[in-house]
Amino acid sequence: MSIQQAYNQWASSYDSDRNRTRDLDQQLMRELLQGQTYQSILELGCGTGKNTQFFSTLGAEVVALDFSAGMLAQARSKINAAHVHFQQADLTQAWPVASGHFDLVVTNLVLEHLADLDHFFAQASQAMSANGQLLVSELHPFRQYQGSQARFQGQDGIIQVPAFTHHISDFLLAAAKAGLQLRQLHEHWHNDDLNQPPRLLSLRWHK
Ligand SMILES: C[S@@+](CC[C@H](N)C(=O)[O-])C[C@H]1O[C@@H](n2cnc3c(N)ncnc32)[C@H](O)[C@@H]1O
Repeated sequence: MSIQQAYNQWASSYDSDRNRTRDLDQQLMRELLQGQTYQSILELGCGTGKNTQFFSTLGAEVVALDFSAGMLAQARSKINAAHVHFQQADLTQAWPVASGHFDLVVTNLVLEHLADLDHFFAQASQAMSANGQLLVSELHPFRQYQGSQARFQGQDGIIQVPAFTHHISDFLLAAAKAGLQLRQLHEHWHNDDLNQPPRLLSLRWHK
């Protein structure tokens, strides 16, 4: 099953499944961004709009891209605001957004599904304004080394969504190649598994 097909199937239960990674990411966005304001936010792989609702309180304009029609339909059903624009787009292609426009580019739990980080960071850098920042929150590679990846209960059993392992150095090198300056790197644990390897990795770059 392709990544796109998998998310179209997962869309109806994504928000209600038990999923600590999803919940920790949602909490983390509030911790990292609460109180900030932005002119234009670009959200990549917005899914069901779990974070889009929050980003819409921070940004005068929010553009949210995803290639799954099913996930986008869930997001659109929740968020109906004139300053929030959802668009179906494949992040492995050229992104259909204005260059040099966004002061916050953000992505959550998406990069494990993209094989080519160089393309991602080059497109993100192009979309960022001169004072823009890029915030990435991603399943920690230590978890991937242990076999974790996006998965859900389908009609006939567990469906594992195709995923790629990116090491921390892969993120750092691809971002540096795109001319971005690393400002923050943090690791995050869910309260329920504090004795395990970190669940999320967050990274913030400036232009
Ligand atoms: C685990 S979900 C995360 C959704 C949301 N960001 C969140 O934190 O809940 C991953 C999302 O990435 C999207 N995605 C994966 N590969 C993509 C691609 N090549 N282009 C666009 N969206 C993609 C999927 O459709 C899905 O909605």
